Amino acid sequence: MSISTSLKEMVSLYCYRIEMHAHSYPASSCAKMTGEELIEELHAHGYHGVVLTNHYIPVPLTEEWVKDFLDAFEEAKAAAQKYGMTVYYGMEMTFWDAPSECLIYGDMDDELLRVMAEEENPTFASVYQKLRSPDRLFIQAHPFRDYGTDDPQVPLSPEMIDGIEAYNMSITANNCVHLAVEYANRHQIPIITSGSDLHAKDQVGATAILTKTMPKTTQELVAILRSRDYLLEISGKPLIPYDFL
Ligand SMILES: [Fe+2]
Repeated sequence: MSISTSLKEMVSLYCYRIEMHAHSYPASSCAKMTGEELIEELHAHGYHGVVLTNHYIPVPLTEEWVKDFLDAFEEAKAAAQKYGMTVYYGMEMTFWDAPSECLIYGDMDDELLRVMAEEENPTFASVYQKLRSPDRLFIQAHPFRDYGTDDPQVPLSPEMIDGIEAYNMSITANNCVHLAVEYANRHQIPIITSGSDLHAKDQVGATAILTKTMPKTTQELVAILRSRDYLLEISGKPLIPYDFL
């Protein structure tokens, strides 16, 4: 058997496609698709699941915001049911102490949001300290993103995160993917992910993670990420994120 044949067989085992970074309107005011539209587009592009990662900006929470944030999961889940797709819980959190954002993968509910809101000016360290758990992951989003302004995003200390979204494929900024991948390699960051940072229809399909089994819950998805037994996909082409699976 040639190397290419065995590689093809190996890759074909990773047949479930999951988008790890997506926003919906109105929970994310910058998003151009509702949860239902997001699911329809992802289904049309062959995805089996998506983590909804709407923005969380630490300002005093309003009832309206909490409702929009939690309703977004329900709307997406209802739409996903039609296509046999799965929606996972997540958020993209902004912090006051660094020009950086963090994807949090894990179950979200009213109580968690209120615990997060207890702190007036949460820092990465304080939130990570308070909320880190085996069932939850903190993945720094696009750690080297450069908007062309004076404050490019900066990578956090490896001890403060579980992983990095080395391959953020958003077209709205220069994500300096080469720097993020080099950083992940140099610091042996435990978990490497990719995400399309979906806000609009023309961004669907840029990237995915590929899994061998379909995680039924967010906890199962977190376990797969922790196991590092998955592939990434960029524009339909598979990519091995680690030296050895
Ligand atoms: Fe995002």
